[in-house]
Amino acid sequence: MALYSEKVMDHFRNPRNVGIIEDADGVGEVGNPVCGDIMKIYLKIADDTITDVKFETFGCGSAIASSSMATELIKGQPLADALKLTNKAVTEALDGLPAHKLHCSVLAEEAIKSAIKDYYDKNGIAYDPAEFPEEHDCEACCVHGA
Ligand code: FES
Repeated sequence: MALYSEKVMDHFRNPRNVGIIEDADGVGEVGNPVCGDIMKIYLKIADDTITDVKFETFGCGSAIASSSMATELIKGQPLADALKLTNKAVTEALDGLPAHKLHCSVLAEEAIKSAIKDYYDKNGIAYDPAEFPEEHDCEACCVHGA
């Protein structure tokens, strides 16, 4: 069996929603200190709904495919639903990732949460801090060197 699913290869070769949104309502950037990969997410938000989303990812193919799929999954969705997006859902939508690449999808989940938090902070909207991760916890999610 191929290491990467067709969906992963498709989103890696033809990533959706690449770019920046100059007047974004929320911007989130996260990095993985172990591999050095960085993901940045831009959101346009209206009526508590994500009306547009773009990403820039400096990282591996799995990180690019995860960003692309994650942006597709949250586009047009209410913020409350986007906040519930897990790296597991992103991985499933990609028809799986190799075990040592699962952590790449965590970046997508964290970058989206970070962008939503930025929007809440900029607009003085109250939220439960428990819904947002602090820093990327590599020890908890990375399987580097495997
Ligand atoms: Fe760093 Fe994939 S996100 S290796």
